[in-house]
Amino acid sequence: MKALIVYYTMGGRTKKTAHAIASSLSKYEVTFVPIELPGNFFQRIQVFDDFEKGKFSLIEDELNSLDAANFDLVFFGMPTYGDKPPGTFEEIMKRMKNFSGKKVIIFTTARFSGKKALEYMKKKIEAAGADVINKYNFRRFFWIGKKRAIKFGEEINEL
Ligand SMILES: Cc1cc2nc3c(=O)[nH]c(=O)nc-3n(C[C@H](O)[C@H](O)[C@H](O)COP(=O)(O)O)c2cc1C
Repeated sequence: MKALIVYYTMGGRTKKTAHAIASSLSKYEVTFVPIELPGNFFQRIQVFDDFEKGKFSLIEDELNSLDAANFDLVFFGMPTYGDKPPGTFEEIMKRMKNFSGKKVIIFTTARFSGKKALEYMKKKIEAAGADVINKYNFRRFFWIGKKRAIKFGEEINEL
């Protein structure tokens, strides 16, 4: 089977979580669409700001590649910003091709909240006609909870 994992990361936590989940998906051939903000801290803040203003030129290739047609399962992993996913998530939803009817797994990373961001994503995904079959909020203040991510991947692998 085939899985697509789309994730957004500014500080690396969501990337590490996505890869830890993927490491358990032995029944799946995994393709990543990473949206990784480049540069040093200040450059990343600038890119984050551009994305929040709807300027996505830096990630046009990634956005254009979003097509669920060949995948049995689609994952979205997002950080939590003020109890929501980044604005880029909306653009990802707009740009996903062949998405209706797909099985979807969502996860958020957060330091102290995250569940609301997860619910927000679930609503948007279901409005696009896809089906959220599992979700998890990886909430840790200092570390990323890699062990839990590997376990989550194992649970998905057995669905
Ligand atoms: C501008 C900003 C807003 C944030 N808001 C929240 C929040 O509302 N709740 C929370 O738990 N964490 C919040 N965080 C922490 C991030 O969600 C958390 O560190 C996340 O794992 C970062 O993922 P990344 O390293 O993949 O970018 C915020 C971080 C930033 C930079």
